[in-house]
Amino acid sequence: MNKRHNIVITVAVSILALLLISSWFVLPYRVQAAPGDNPLIDEMVLLDRVFMDVVSAVAVGNGHRVASALEPMHGTQQRTHEGIHSGKVKIPKNQKRIGEFVKMDEAFHNNLERLAAAARKDNKGDMLSITKTLLDGCVNCHKIFKD
Ligand code: HEC
Repeated sequence: MNKRHNIVITVAVSILALLLISSWFVLPYRVQAAPGDNPLIDEMVLLDRVFMDVVSAVAVGNGHRVASALEPMHGTQQRTHEGIHSGKVKIPKNQKRIGEFVKMDEAFHNNLERLAAAARKDNKGDMLSITKTLLDGCVNCHKIFKD
């Protein structure tokens, strides 16, 4: 084997190693749907962030911060419901119980509205109890409808 061969093999092995390493990092992101593909996932990703902010604002009893944390949620419920009708939203589990899903979702969004109202009044007791109810709402819905 001559020197050129060695260089070619070294380069080829390096390229392969690089490809392997980069696919390790890139693949998990590629598998995820792009924003806009599934309004339910978009809503959940947003809700996840919003809820963390809500929890910390409720923990320190700051109604103003709770109210502003909730603002990005406006319109998400409608987009999800349109997605259910157009077929863009596929519930991963118990699809036959879609009626129950819609009811749970409505109750959840009603509680978000109630929380926003309590936050505007800076009613710390209501903020805390509604936030606990909301957390139950996440878990109960996921138990039935999420993989
Ligand atoms: C009415 C039902 C319902 C409620 C309420 C609900 N979720 Fe979900 N959530 C779902 C379903 C269904 C999925 C699975 C979506 C899928 O995989 O297609 C999901 C998925 C998620 C995901 C994963 C998203 C992803 O990238 O795959 C997160 C995070 C999440 N929910 C957070 C929350 C949080 C936090 C709350 C409460 C503050 C909440 N959800 C309330 C139904 C709900």
